[in-house]
Amino acid sequence: MRKKIVAGNWKMNMTVSETKDLIAKLKDKCSTNDVDVVFVVPSIDVTTAKECLKGTNIKLGTQNFYYEDKGAFTGEISAKMILDAGAEYVIIGHSERRNIFKEDDAMINKKLLKAHSSGLKPILCCGESLELREKGTYKDFIEKQIKSAFENVSESDALNTVIAYEPIWAIGTGKTATSDEAEEVCKFIREIIGKLYNDNVKSNIRIQYGGSVNAGNARELFEKEDIDGGLVGGASLKEEFINIVNYK
Ligand code: PGA
Repeated sequence: MRKKIVAGNWKMNMTVSETKDLIAKLKDKCSTNDVDVVFVVPSIDVTTAKECLKGTNIKLGTQNFYYEDKGAFTGEISAKMILDAGAEYVIIGHSERRNIFKEDDAMINKKLLKAHSSGLKPILCCGESLELREKGTYKDFIEKQIKSAFENVSESDALNTVIAYEPIWAIGTGKTATSDEAEEVCKFIREIIGKLYNDNVKSNIRIQYGGSVNAGNARELFEKEDIDGGLVGGASLKEEFINIVNYK
């Protein structure tokens, strides 16, 4: 049985003081019995968020890091810094990083390898543009993204990776993939993983859906066979997130 995982991707929202207010509103109402709950906050908010989440089972993550250990990489943070500040998850390969900050498949693979060798738990994003969806070639594209990301990743590290399928056309647009569309691709990703590794990894790796998840559609999405929870952007900044976590 795969435990569901619901992560809130706060993106570039929430100052330190806003972080305190939002966590105060959410922390006691998000049930962590059946679901792993992760707040993926801006790096600068991690220390404060850690303090605010004391006594809860809610986990913390950051949205980015660089794959080198230390040195002259102005503006970047390392895996060790994230772990030391108290976060354990990290998002890798979000479409906003790929598109706005020009991160390519090779860099994403390096980040995935580094996250695992450092002890960070990666949430690896993949997903196609509207153009590819309409052309019908989205599965080829996703297969390429997954194969490249997992190059040289060991079986045990693959098992500890969370994959988030996030069609770009559904992110922040209010246009969710239907639960059948989301299930089709999550199932397809599971099959690719099965071919790259084996049946154990295939049936145990967790695959989330992301893209305009809200309190109204979470249940239908998360009850699909191959969807193990969600990566939630906009709705993770509101009390609505409680109803997404407690979708049952
Ligand atoms: P959204 O963002 O829920 O606002 O569509 C999801 C994401 O980008 O992770």
